[in-house]
Amino acid sequence: MKEILILLIFFTTISVANEPIKPIPLHVDYNYQKAKLGYFLYMDPRLSSTGKISCATCHDLDKGGADPRKTSVSAGVNGKKGSSNAPTVFNSYFGFRQFWNGRAKDLQAQASGPMHNPVEMGMNNQKIQKYLRGNKFYTKEFDLIYHKKPMPKDAIDAIAEFEKALFTPNCKFDRYLRKQTKLSTKEAKGYKLFKTLGCITCHNGVNIGDNSFQKIGVIYPYKWEKNIPDRYALTHNPNDKNVFKVPTLRNIMLSAPYFHDGSAKNIKDALNQMAYHNLGLILTDSEIDELTAFFKTLTGKKPTILKRLSK
Ligand code: HEC
Ligand code: HEC
Repeated sequence: MKEILILLIFFTTISVANEPIKPIPLHVDYNYQKAKLGYFLYMDPRLSSTGKISCATCHDLDKGGADPRKTSVSAGVNGKKGSSNAPTVFNSYFGFRQFWNGRAKDLQAQASGPMHNPVEMGMNNQKIQKYLRGNKFYTKEFDLIYHKKPMPKDAIDAIAEFEKALFTPNCKFDRYLRKQTKLSTKEAKGYKLFKTLGCITCHNGVNIGDNSFQKIGVIYPYKWEKNIPDRYALTHNPNDKNVFKVPTLRNIMLSAPYFHDGSAKNIKDALNQMAYHNLGLILTDSEIDELTAFFKTLTGKKPTILKRLSK
């Protein structure tokens, strides 16, 4: 009995390392039927006014759930200009708010945004409803899941359920946190730097970010662009200029370019600018190399729902 107790204590203390970064849970409960419907909606360009833009146009599931273009400009309905870089939808379920300036409180509130945004999908509830109700597949699915005719708010609910399933567990770093593997010397040096330089003060928790608002340009100012919605656009407090949600660093190697304005073309560029603007530091080449090695350990497994859906 005593041995079992000791073993139990041993396992609970070693199961996850006591670090400021926490692993992504291995399982997240979601409703598969709903999420599957959400997937079809997510991929459906007919939910845009031009019939050409779907969520996947700007959040490519094969490109880390993000947009490889600087800003999602060219995708805008009728070529209208968007001004910010599309963040990843992977693991966004763990984010404390949605959008760069946190204007949506959760995925449900977020998903209705793009469909109605003229720069994104340019639709309205009436048009969405008309399209969904005129489609046999959707009518059947909505009836099965929601027991009624398709409603835009249920479509948003299904999309949010799909996004909930887009979590990427078991990256090398999470396995390290669970004490299932060791980091290489370079990766370990990179993680140590990440903590000693001070990156960890803003990038921590399950999503290594995505849990606070911070400024870009804490030490040396960063250019401010009026047309990009930062916290200031919501609060009108001058201290909130260039304040954004700290982005997740999960799968960071897959989601270039970086920053709200997509101005950092690659990871080296992002690291140099981050260190300079937010910590007042100039990184050496070997530091960049080590931080990058650590970042590579943050690429998780592709969401299992995508495999399930392709069967
Ligand atoms: C034309 C490109 C475009 C389309 C289409 C689009 N998005 Fe986005 N998405 C963006 C951009 C750009 C942002 C960042 C905007 C901001 O924060 O101000 C964003 C932000 C988000 C976020 C917030 C992520 C975070 O970490 O804050 C989620 C989630 C998201 N989009 C999901 C969707 C879904 C679901 C759809 C389809 C219903 C969709 N997007 C359609 C470009 C697009
Ligand atoms: C004071 C808080 C703070 C500190 C310290 C900080 N960051 Fe950031 N980081 C942010 C914010 C805020 C953004 C988003 C900036 C933007 O988009 O304009 C960001 C963005 C990034 C990005 C780009 C992510 C993306 O998807 O666009 C990377 C990479 C990054 N940080 C790495 C680091 C590293 C490495 C360090 C340490 C050298 C560091 N950060 C220190 C707050 C911080």
